[in-house]
Amino acid sequence: MANTETTARAAGTAVERTPQWAALAAHHTEISGVTLRQLFADDQKRAESFTVQADGLYLDYSKNIVTSRTIELLVALAEAAGLRSGIEAMFGGERINVTENRPVLHVALRAPAGVSIRVDGVDVVPEVHAVLDRMSAFADRVRSGVWTGATGEHITTIVNIGIGGSDLGPAMAYEALRDYTDRSIAVRFVSNVDPTDVWEATHDLDPAKTLFIVASKTFTTLETLANARAARSWLTEALGEKAVSAHFVAVSTNAEKVAEFGIDTANMFEFWDWVGGRYSMDSAIGLSLMVAIGPAHFREMLAGFHAMDVHFRTAPFERNIPVLLGLLGLWYRDFFGTQTHAVLPYSQYLARFPAYLQQLDMESNGKSVDLDGRPVQVPTGPVVWGTPGTNGQHAYFQLLHQGTTVVPADFIGFVRPNHPGVGEVDQHILLMANFLAQTEALAFGKTAAEVAAEGVAPELVAHRTFAGNRPTTTLLASRLDPFTLGQLVALYEHKVFTQGVIWGVNSFDQWGVELGKVLAGRIIPELTDHSVPLRHDSSTNALISLLRSA
Ligand code: F6P
Repeated sequence: MANTETTARAAGTAVERTPQWAALAAHHTEISGVTLRQLFADDQKRAESFTVQADGLYLDYSKNIVTSRTIELLVALAEAAGLRSGIEAMFGGERINVTENRPVLHVALRAPAGVSIRVDGVDVVPEVHAVLDRMSAFADRVRSGVWTGATGEHITTIVNIGIGGSDLGPAMAYEALRDYTDRSIAVRFVSNVDPTDVWEATHDLDPAKTLFIVASKTFTTLETLANARAARSWLTEALGEKAVSAHFVAVSTNAEKVAEFGIDTANMFEFWDWVGGRYSMDSAIGLSLMVAIGPAHFREMLAGFHAMDVHFRTAPFERNIPVLLGLLGLWYRDFFGTQTHAVLPYSQYLARFPAYLQQLDMESNGKSVDLDGRPVQVPTGPVVWGTPGTNGQHAYFQLLHQGTTVVPADFIGFVRPNHPGVGEVDQHILLMANFLAQTEALAFGKTAAEVAAEGVAPELVAHRTFAGNRPTTTLLASRLDPFTLGQLVALYEHKVFTQGVIWGVNSFDQWGVELGKVLAGRIIPELTDHSVPLRHDSSTNALISLLRSA
């Protein structure tokens, strides 16, 4: 472990003032004319040198605009920024979420029994396993039909009501692991306060066979409570008040509010304030997922998370997958000035993965002050976006190939399909051919001379030329299974952490969501009672008046 006393962070130096930053800036100027064509031509073993494997996950970052010197300099920056001591502080349960005075211990959620992680002198791992055991017992009862609704019917649909981290993780993972779900129990997710969301999720269900999981860390979130109340009315209109205990369970850190809502705290699955909302899918927040895939698969997913935790904590930075992803992202964001980062899974099952990463990354690193509240002087988190390949190829890939903005992209693919396909055509081959072709085309492009040599009409040559040099990172795993999904999620969690440490921001608070919540709280009574005088700006006043007149 690095001596914390020697790091720039420990000395209070902003990252952009370190000699390591200056060295990277100079290096960027030096290699700004370098192309991926040239880098590959100069080094026949480039793919080998820029590849790392960990527990079956294969990272090829050779199609990035980096040399071994770039990686050396980026690693030096990570060291100077105190990443080593930062990792140890997180795993050691220090209160690194300084603005909320909390430890950040999602790594404890997947720590194997027997490992000890202490918060204020108390080992939290036994508590984590006790909740996992309760969740497993509950999931087994629902899956086997032992848990019945108020009228004795088996549960056939679970409706998870939550938002943000209490929705995106389980919703993403339910899609990702559909192949592992018990198809006799469907899971639906309600998050939006738009009444159509809860209506669509319930109107065709049989209340007697429906179980609601109300998931909210705080149990004060407007959207979730409104949806939970709507669901409760829908249920009690059909089955009466007494049915609530058989049809509602809660996941929360706030037993008092759960009881106040009318859910028996015996049916509450707890987690802890040291788990951030966007880092909680492997806590009790994953209960709906566990019912769907079963406790054994859930635990395989936790093992995948843990394997990535161990890799992150122990692998040298230059062979550390989350660190490398974090450093590459920072390289483009801060030295090339890129604004966005695409995540492109070549798996339909990972359709919700980019949306999940949007909260993970943008709520964590979308910050403009450092840990001490001083304005940051360098760009921090990018806009993260993406959709599954190959759909994106027929939509926005035009811009990725020929647009005026460079978008670094992660391509995520799998060697084997979850389903072999139907009929004679091997669709997985078609999918993966596209996966490979895109990163090849983005990296190497097609010169005007090559286009002309194909006999293209001179006036079309410019249109059909591809500049190339568009950076991509390839992540390849053998198959999308619970273990791999756990690895992937933990990989991005730690990527975000790596960047947050280097930028010197608090990746674990989200004050930026508060102002809108407060203002909405002020507008609700103004929309309800039209006699309340309006004291907003002229635009907001006029818009409220329009809504009032409807
Ligand atoms: O509004 C942002 C946020 O606080 C997220 O960080 C969190 O995941 C989400 O709301 C939901 O919060 P809760 O689980 O407390 O309902």
